[in-house]
Amino acid sequence: MTYQEEDLFFRYNYKMSKFFALIPAAGSGSRMENKLPKQYLPLAGRPMIYHALRTLCRSPGIVSVFVVLAPDDSEWLRHDWSEFSGKLVVFNYGGVTRSMSILNGLKAAPDASSIVDSDWVLVHDAARPCLSEALLNKLMNELADDAVGGLLAVPLADTLKRSDVSNRVEHTESRKGLWQAQTPQMFRYKLLVDALSRPSSIAMTDDASAVEELGLHPKLVLSDARNLKITYPQDMILAELILRAQLEGYGEYD
Ligand code: C5P
Repeated sequence: MTYQEEDLFFRYNYKMSKFFALIPAAGSGSRMENKLPKQYLPLAGRPMIYHALRTLCRSPGIVSVFVVLAPDDSEWLRHDWSEFSGKLVVFNYGGVTRSMSILNGLKAAPDASSIVDSDWVLVHDAARPCLSEALLNKLMNELADDAVGGLLAVPLADTLKRSDVSNRVEHTESRKGLWQAQTPQMFRYKLLVDALSRPSSIAMTDDASAVEELGLHPKLVLSDARNLKITYPQDMILAELILRAQLEGYGEYD
């Protein structure tokens, strides 16, 4: 199966498309040096995943938010999620990789919602708790009429060094045209299922890579470093500061 960007324009009725979100939350977060999976670590008084869920569920444009948990998750039910009950759909179908968790959730979605092939799915990591309403709206607005879809991203700010085996600088890489990919990543339901169903996508660390493998060119939507990904324990301190500023109304931006 091949995809041509021009074909995609004719395949979908853009005006009718709905928006859904999916949070893969079946990872163990081994780099966080904590027994509790990363998505449940306490952050600004809540489990980490709460913050992304809140932003996505509060968006009037998003119909449902799917959360994909590990089959043996024992933490989710310890918390009260009732404030999201109108939009939240939970699946215990996590896979061994991020992309498998997402694909399992996508395949379960039609039985649990009104999603159809041409609807948009915004895939967002539980480990990016500081997604702001402004960035979410920007992504949805900039891509709503796009043939392919795309992702939030930031142009690389630091100078890049290529190292040799003994951690000495071999040379300096050009950072021209390089961006750091973030989430949400927003693609149409059918396109995402097709892309993630290919065996080569199993170990991919983002959804855009799988779409690129189809020969398509996802759009980069300018984001902000505050939409950071929590990977190491020290990231929690920064995320907490950003979240507190957002809650106090200082964190929103154009
Ligand atoms: O481990 P990493 O930070 O790359 O995970 C990104 C996101 O993918 C997290 O929200 C994590 O819970 C999720 N994930 C998953 N299933 C896996 C591995 C990661 O849902 N098997």
